[in-house]
Amino acid sequence: MKKIDFDGFAHAYDDLLREQTTFFTEDETYFARYKIDIVRRLATSEPRRVLEFGCGTGRNIRFLRDAFPRSEVMGSDVSQKSLDLARSSNPGVHFWREGDDAATRSGFDLIFIAGVFHHVPPSERNAVAACVAERLNAGGTVAGVLRVRGGSTK
Ligand SMILES: C[S@@+](CC[C@H](N)C(=O)[O-])C[C@H]1O[C@@H](n2cnc3c(N)ncnc32)[C@H](O)[C@@H]1O
Repeated sequence: MKKIDFDGFAHAYDDLLREQTTFFTEDETYFARYKIDIVRRLATSEPRRVLEFGCGTGRNIRFLRDAFPRSEVMGSDVSQKSLDLARSSNPGVHFWREGDDAATRSGFDLIFIAGVFHHVPPSERNAVAACVAERLNAGGTVAGVLRVRGGSTK
């Protein structure tokens, strides 16, 4: 499995995504909104704290904030450059780099994950999933969008 260095193309990520999705829709926010609409429908109660794990450049954050206006929405990622962009387009939202200062990173009622796990090497996925689960409050929800490819464990 080839690991992508998201720091290396954080600045181009949004443009690349736009190029790939214009075939389906001219509205570049369509897929982000679509995913969050599903999460909104899945949520059985109003979450107090919401985390987007692997938030990248923060494209989904404003839709999470719109969907859960009374919640505290935060984002985390391993890519510092993506986080820098996420911060600049989402002022007032707390973002942090995974691996830094773990103490305050728990207590979430809803954790949203989109397009992250297929970038995590298979041998690390259980540990990453366990780390996500540890952050969840009792009764909380993890809502994820996964891409699974059969036939390869590399
Ligand atoms: C395809 S992008 C998706 C970004 C965002 N979720 C979205 O939907 O636009 C995948 C993101 O996962 C992040 N990522 C990969 N491994 C991670 C890990 N172990 N923990 C947190 N984020 C991770 C990458 O840095 C990258 O920003």
